[in-house]
Amino acid sequence: MTQIQDLFDAAKAARENAYAPYSQFKVGAALRTEDGLIFAGCNVENAAFPEGVCAEAGAISAMVLGGGSRISEVVVIADAALCTPCGGCRQKLKEFEGQGMTIHVADLNEIKQSFTMDGLLPAGFQLEEKD
Ligand code: THU
Repeated sequence: MTQIQDLFDAAKAARENAYAPYSQFKVGAALRTEDGLIFAGCNVENAAFPEGVCAEAGAISAMVLGGGSRISEVVVIADAALCTPCGGCRQKLKEFEGQGMTIHVADLNEIKQSFTMDGLLPAGFQLEEKD
């Protein structure tokens, strides 16, 4: 078993519980904190479409509830060629970026491509004082 198999399995299991009656596009996400804890999420859609929540956002909420704060790696899984996180989720992931955080994008069988945070969100917004 590769080191990332546990994260892949958690993301895949989370995807099974996705609520995606409108898009039929189920997504699962699982993240590992720097403390070694795993948290997962799935997309949850809504009849008022913008109110839906992405899988990554669900995993982040679970992590925060569980006391986690810094993410070391993430797996996002969907039945797609390359389901990269949406723009909003890139910013959400950046908020909790740990040292060298890696975002792995997978289909139902394997990791297809891995990204750094900076690769997904170059020059991303960070709240900081001018001086
Ligand atoms: N979605 C995610 O949950 N994560 C992604 O990385 C991309 C898109 C969801 C949002 C919506 O429920 C469905 O996939 C189709 O866009």
